[in-house]
Amino acid sequence: MEIRSLRQDERGAVQELLRGAFGPATGQPLDTPPPLGPDRTLVAVDDVPLGCALTFTRTVRLRRTEVRLGGVGGVAVRADRRRNGIGSALLQAAMDELRKSGSPIGLLFTDGFGFYERAGWRQLSQRLFKLRPHGAAVEDGAALRELAPADLGAVCELYDAYTATLSGVTLRDAPYWGALARRLEAGNQRLRIAEQDGRVVAYVWSEARADDQVAVLEYARERGAAPALVDLLLSELEGRSVLRAPIVPDPELGHALRERGCAPDPGEDPSPMWTVLDPEQLAAIAGLPQDVSQRALLDALVGGPSATYFESDRF
Ligand SMILES: CC(C)(COP(=O)(O)OP(=O)(O)OC[C@H]1O[C@@H](n2cnc3c(N)ncnc32)[C@H](O)[C@@H]1OP(=O)(O)O)[C@@H](O)C(=O)NCCC(=O)NCCS
Repeated sequence: MEIRSLRQDERGAVQELLRGAFGPATGQPLDTPPPLGPDRTLVAVDDVPLGCALTFTRTVRLRRTEVRLGGVGGVAVRADRRRNGIGSALLQAAMDELRKSGSPIGLLFTDGFGFYERAGWRQLSQRLFKLRPHGAAVEDGAALRELAPADLGAVCELYDAYTATLSGVTLRDAPYWGALARRLEAGNQRLRIAEQDGRVVAYVWSEARADDQVAVLEYARERGAAPALVDLLLSELEGRSVLRAPIVPDPELGHALRERGCAPDPGEDPSPMWTVLDPEQLAAIAGLPQDVSQRALLDALVGGPSATYFESDRF
């Protein structure tokens, strides 16, 4: 068996492998062009593809340092060839690939933790808050509407300012924003904005989920616009059974929710797993001694209350 880059003539077989492992929707990442699609697809081949692993890169901020994040996705092995070490070999090859491309830290999303824990990955939940309908009404302080193409610049600025102190968050350039906007048009997602005095002061990017639930993928607001952000969140909740959103440190948002009589329930998304690919570089960024444990490094950089990885940036 050999592990190497995917060849064009193997794409169909790998799409089939991904669909077999994850369901019908998941052949899609191979068709997603950069900057959101995979940088490199690895295949385990023995005459025909037996397994695959996809690697992705993003630029993120850890504390105040810009680094290259290495993502892994789509680790799948043909059902009749599992438990022979192929999955582990693919995962190691993906991690080597990310190290070579200069990523000091790795991220993936899964519900199969044991397989990755054995390869040195650590599960660190994204904290969430949940809102349920409870009679609070949207007020008419801000005009709420769908994003128009001309709003995108203002949305980017809000994102940059609101996330400036967060650790783990993706740094987005114009091509990356363009790719996100195209994904937004295609899916059952929407980005709505709150406008006040002709300015975009807050936005909420959400996705409709099964059972009348809505997942907020990300949000941001201008200073002083916490009530407008609450309006947006409440308007997303209308007609739904529950809204879930990532927690970012924003005491004013918490205050504005309570003012409106909303008591969010805590929740978490357990699926993110992180790993250290370059301990020296991460220890320097975290300001910790070189011999610190991997767990302590990850806790310091992506485990604290200011650590956020928005669902909109997932691979
Ligand atoms: C997860 C997945 C990729 C693992 O692939 P795999 O080739 O079976 O992986 P490995 O053989 O390296 O390891 C699987 C298990 O077999 C065991 N194993 C490896 N070689 C073995 C051998 N020669 N004999 C017996 N067991 C062995 C490993 O210890 C491991 O144990 P675990 O299940 O307790 O972790 C595969 O099961 C799969 O495609 N699942 C569906 C998709 C999926 O869930 N992907 C990951 C979530 S994002």
